[in-house]
Amino acid sequence: MQPNESPSDSRRYNRQLIQLKGCTVNRIRIRRPDDWHLHLRDGAMLKTVVPATARSFGRAIVMPNLKPPVRTVAEAQAYRERILAARPTGSDFEPLMTLYLTETTTADDIRQAARSDFVHAVKYYPAGATTNSDSGVRKLERVYPVIEVLEQQGLPLLMHGEVTDADIDVFDREAVFIERHLDSLRTTFPDLKMVLEHATTQDAIEYVQAAPGPIAATITVHHLLYNRNALFEGGLRPHQYCLPLIKRERHRQALINAVTSGNERFFLGTDSAPHPKHAKESDCGCAGIYSAPAAIELYTEVFEAAGALDKLEAFASLNGPAFYGLPVNEDFIELEKHSWVMEREITAAEDTIVPLRAGQPIGWQQSNG
Ligand code: NCD
Ligand code: ZN
Repeated sequence: MQPNESPSDSRRYNRQLIQLKGCTVNRIRIRRPDDWHLHLRDGAMLKTVVPATARSFGRAIVMPNLKPPVRTVAEAQAYRERILAARPTGSDFEPLMTLYLTETTTADDIRQAARSDFVHAVKYYPAGATTNSDSGVRKLERVYPVIEVLEQQGLPLLMHGEVTDADIDVFDREAVFIERHLDSLRTTFPDLKMVLEHATTQDAIEYVQAAPGPIAATITVHHLLYNRNALFEGGLRPHQYCLPLIKRERHRQALINAVTSGNERFFLGTDSAPHPKHAKESDCGCAGIYSAPAAIELYTEVFEAAGALDKLEAFASLNGPAFYGLPVNEDFIELEKHSWVMEREITAAEDTIVPLRAGQPIGWQQSNG
C-alpha cells in the first residue's frame, strides 16, 4: 500500500492489477471427473453418500470393505444394485466395483471378475491396517498365485500400501511397505497393473514416478490440504484422522508437486470414508474422512493455490480412465470461485456425519450438476 492510500484504494488497485495480469480465474469448466477410490458403505447411509458423490463424479471405484467384505462377483453385483438404487433420480453415476482380496480368494474368483463388466479391480488390504480390514492378507506372498491371475487378466490390483507390524512407527508404515514389498511384487509380476492407493509420502511419489511398468497412484484431497499438525490443532482432531495418516509438510509438498506436474500416473481418489460422528468422537475413534460433499471444490482450491488450475482436468478426469482403459466422461462440470460454508453435520439415516471442512468456508462451488 502507498503512504496516502486507503485500504479500499489498495484493494481496488490489487484487483485491477490482478485483472491486468490476467491471472484471476473465477470460473472453470472441466470434463466430468471420476473418483478412483471411494467408500460408500451400505444400507440406509447409501441414500446420503451416493448423491454426494454423484453430484460431481461420473464414476467411482467403490471400495469393498463392508462387513463382511465384498469377496465375490455375486456379492459385488448385489452391492452394485443397492448403490444404483440409491442414486438420485436422473443420475447416471456408475459405481465401478472391486473385490476384497483375502487369503482364500481363488483364481476362479478373479477370472469371473475379469469376465464381468462391472468389477474393475481387486483391493489388497494388509490385515489390521484400517477400518474393516480383519479379512485382509497376513502375508503378501500367500496371495501370489491369485496375483498372477490378475496380471494375466489385466485386472488392476489396488494396494493399501502399509505394513502393520507393531514395531513400525505408524507414520512410517507406507515408506516401509514400499521398501519391503513393492520391488519384489513388481519384479515377480512386471505386467501387473497396480495402483498405490492414497499415496501420502514423498517416498511413494518418487517410487511411482520412477518405476517401470503399469503403476499409478491415487491422491486424496485431505492429504493435499493438510499436514499432520492438523491432527492436533488446538486439541485432538478426530475428524482429521484417517489412514494412512496425514504426514509432514514435506510430504504434502511432494503430493502437490505430483498432482500439478501433469504426470499421468497420478489421479484423483478421495478415499472419502464416512463414519457416524459418535464413532469418530470416541475413546477409540474410527479412521476415515468424509470429503465427498465438497471433494471437487477442495481439489480445486489445492490446484488454485499451486497456480495450476490448468492441470486439474488431467488429474481429475483424464488420467484415471486412461489407466483403467475406460473412455473419459462425455459431459462437463463448472466450478465458480465463490465462498460458501460447509454444513457442520450431515444427517445420514439414524446418524450424523461430520464432513471435511465442517462449519468452515470453501472457496469454490460447483455450479452445474
Ligand atoms: C477407510 C474406511 O473408513 O473404510 N478409512 C480411512 O481412514 N481411509 C479405510 C481405508 O481406506 O483405509
Ligand atoms: Zn480407502
